[in-house]
Amino acid sequence: MPSQSLRLSLRFLLPLALVLVLFAYAAVPLTEKLTVRWFVRDLDIRSQLLASALEEPLLGYLPQKARRQINQLFDRAIRDERLYALGLCDAAGSLLYKTATFPASIPCSRPAQGKAGSENRAMLRLPQGAVHVSGSDLMQDGVLVGRLLLVHDMSFIERRSADTRKYVFTMFALLALVIAVLTVVIAQLSWRGWVNGVRSLLRGELLLRAPAAGAPAEMQPLIGDLRNLLHEYQRDRQQDGGAQVSAPDKLRALLQNELAGDEVLVVSNREPYIHVDTPEGVEVRRPASGLVTAVEAVMRACSGTWIAHGAGSADRQTVDKHDRVQVPPGDPSYTLRRVWLSKEEEQGYYYGFANEGLWPLCHIAHVRPVFRFTDWEQYVAVNRRFADAVVKEARTSNPVVLVQDYHFALLPRLVRERLPEATIITFWHIPWPNAESFGICPWRTQILEGMLGSTILGFHTPLHRKNFLDTVDRYLEARIENEASTVSYGGKLTQVENYPISIAWPDQPGPDGQDVAQCRASIRHALGLSPGHLLGIGVDRLDYTKGIPERFQAVERMLELHPEMVGRVTLVQIAAPSRSSLDEYQNFEARVRQLTQRINQRFGSGSYQPIILKAEHHEQHEVNRYYRAADVCMVTSLHDGMNLVAKEYIAARDDEQGALILSQFTGAAMELHAALIVNPYHIEQSAGALHQALTMPAAEQKARMRSMRTLVRDFNVYRWAGRMLLDAARLRQRQRVMSSIHAHGGRSARID
Ligand code: G6P
Repeated sequence: MPSQSLRLSLRFLLPLALVLVLFAYAAVPLTEKLTVRWFVRDLDIRSQLLASALEEPLLGYLPQKARRQINQLFDRAIRDERLYALGLCDAAGSLLYKTATFPASIPCSRPAQGKAGSENRAMLRLPQGAVHVSGSDLMQDGVLVGRLLLVHDMSFIERRSADTRKYVFTMFALLALVIAVLTVVIAQLSWRGWVNGVRSLLRGELLLRAPAAGAPAEMQPLIGDLRNLLHEYQRDRQQDGGAQVSAPDKLRALLQNELAGDEVLVVSNREPYIHVDTPEGVEVRRPASGLVTAVEAVMRACSGTWIAHGAGSADRQTVDKHDRVQVPPGDPSYTLRRVWLSKEEEQGYYYGFANEGLWPLCHIAHVRPVFRFTDWEQYVAVNRRFADAVVKEARTSNPVVLVQDYHFALLPRLVRERLPEATIITFWHIPWPNAESFGICPWRTQILEGMLGSTILGFHTPLHRKNFLDTVDRYLEARIENEASTVSYGGKLTQVENYPISIAWPDQPGPDGQDVAQCRASIRHALGLSPGHLLGIGVDRLDYTKGIPERFQAVERMLELHPEMVGRVTLVQIAAPSRSSLDEYQNFEARVRQLTQRINQRFGSGSYQPIILKAEHHEQHEVNRYYRAADVCMVTSLHDGMNLVAKEYIAARDDEQGALILSQFTGAAMELHAALIVNPYHIEQSAGALHQALTMPAAEQKARMRSMRTLVRDFNVYRWAGRMLLDAARLRQRQRVMSSIHAHGGRSARID
């Protein structure tokens, strides 16, 4: 890299040297001319002085024609080394007296080339060198009696000019040298500064300073994005009084201290525990849902009540007469309140409006959203039903209500109307699209109004938050404070924030006490693979947003490009069936199966299959074993709010090995910079990343994994919840102060 700075310096130095040479050439004659002019003026003055000094004795000697005295006077005078010769002419122009040195060619007449004021002076080039000749008239009683000619030697001027020329050249050469040295030093320093700048940029220091002065223009957009990101990150850290809230007990303490033990109610569509009838009796299942994974951890820490749709076939059998059941089974720490929905309600609200309308609308995964009025009616009705349940479950007038996801966009306003003092925190677990895209929803206004019933509205990423604010700006008459990130609508204020969700950092990552080596061995054994077989893992719901076909195509392309990998690597795809009654999902499943078959036919042989599709539900501890057994985890969502699979994989790798391929279109990619980030639509790129992951040296895996593990451990789900609850506590406190000012006749109780 120093050679680069040298090249840069040379690129600057060569033109500089050229300019300096030109300068020197222009400067030397100029300086010479000036020096000559100064010396000539000097000689003029000297001549005048000498002439004045000689005038008086000469006027005395002239009438007497005192030759000897005059000659003596002249000889004394020319002892001056500069005065070369003297001559004295009579008024008629004949040379009367002269020193021996007086050149014969100098006439007594006035010089013809004289200019005004200098008519008595001339410069002549004689065989003995250049001379300065100055004539001075001798007047007696107003009559011209003679003319004194003073001849000065000018060779010293030439000597000095030559010296000056030498000095000027030396000075320019020195100047060039100094500038060159300085340039190289500065270039080196600034290169180092640049490198350090990039380093600190990567550490996030430089970016937090604005603007990124001195950074190359081509890096500015990247720096801009990174700076925004890091500002958010920094803001998160700073705002994060919840920074310490990184464990369940700390979250509990926060609730006690900041929220005075206020009751917490959670509302979501998907329940955390599903009771199902099986031939072996009632079984409890955990759904495949990132939302549930995260919120469950919080509920375990802070108790309270979770209101959700009771969708399991044995759910009704397991609740009390108030439709409540204590969970987790065997170790109850909070209440699950089930809401029952009819087939029509579920069809319209869940399958229809939520999953055929809002889901594709928000994900922009190129599946066309479907909006039916009948679905909308069910959506409104079910939101009301859940609002009723919240009001019923609330023991106080001001509970903290945590509303989850796109199933309940109308619920915040419905609850607000009936529990005006409640603190409603709504978290949108999926992306929020840009305003134009959202605009195609026929009930966009109602959705936005419903959401703005929230005290706090949370999104995963700054982009989703910004998209939401833009959407409100576009479709509602609301006041938006972008700096404060608030929306004021209908006299109510909503704080809009980004809270990147995470997972509970496991105390002990090894499921069933199995270490990584055991998991590797047992999984490979179960799959009929050799101990050294390379294993990739994908874990998703069978959903078209997850980029499963793109992932398979990347495997296929990698095998095409690296035939030596055929027979040595297998991708296990765990795909939990999801929303299977919808056509879109059925078609998608069929497509995934066909693709698996095609690729396996193409590259499989004997018992070897490059892709093993496990399209069935897996419990978390089983998934964990796969995470620990795998060499690489592939997360290639086409769009994803966060994607907790990426974080779960990292949490499972306490051996600090394994590589993560992560789609740039996930919220997780905003945080997990040490992953191999890919554009899942770019199959070649994903194939390259897969090969890189499979051949990644252990030290590199360790460095990447270690950095990601630190981040996920520190920014875990307790911190996510802690931040939201802490923000809620602050707003509640503010509300209380405002109310008391109002009650005591304060002039303004507006909280915007
Ligand atoms: C996403 C949504 C959740 C949902 C989950 C599973 O993560 O954000 O709200 O629970 O998918 O989908 P499902 O429809 O089975 O609940």
